Amino acid sequence: MPKKLLTLMPEFQMIQDPELRDKTVQVWRKAMEKGSWSVEDLEGMPFTLLIENTSVSLIQHTRAVTLCSIRIGDVLLEKYKDYLSLNRDILLSGALLHDVGKLFEYKREDGNFVKSREGELLRHPISGAAFASQFDLPEEVLHIIAAHSKEGDGARKTVEAVIVNHADFVNFESLKI
Ligand SMILES: [Fe+2]
Repeated sequence: MPKKLLTLMPEFQMIQDPELRDKTVQVWRKAMEKGSWSVEDLEGMPFTLLIENTSVSLIQHTRAVTLCSIRIGDVLLEKYKDYLSLNRDILLSGALLHDVGKLFEYKREDGNFVKSREGELLRHPISGAAFASQFDLPEEVLHIIAAHSKEGDGARKTVEAVIVNHADFVNFESLKI
């Protein structure tokens, strides 16, 4: 399965630190196991239930958010290098994992993806950060997961978390119009 997952999301390979890369893949792999989702399920899983019948998958969304995040990060590094610093690997890992909690937020009912009981009780930034915390990831990565979406609004965030939070909204709001 890891190989299929890497084919599905080649952005994992952009993480330079092999340990962080492996841990990031492992979180996805174990989350798939916990949610009993196959790679094929993931391909058909919508990125949101808030846009009715969207055909944009969670994988497409995660890849787009990751690429937007790294490009924003690179522009900031290029233009503001005297004013800020950021860690590209942390940014990539956090972006790739920001929505992993959606694997627990959804369930399948009559062939449709609907909100699970867990999803009603714990939104994906919370369940995703809690799940990922079992894998000895840097706290900066857990912070990105926990502080994306509205959970992070108004909260103090690292530069990497600000980027993923906004990249996520850009990728959501643009498709909602
Ligand atoms: Fe997202």
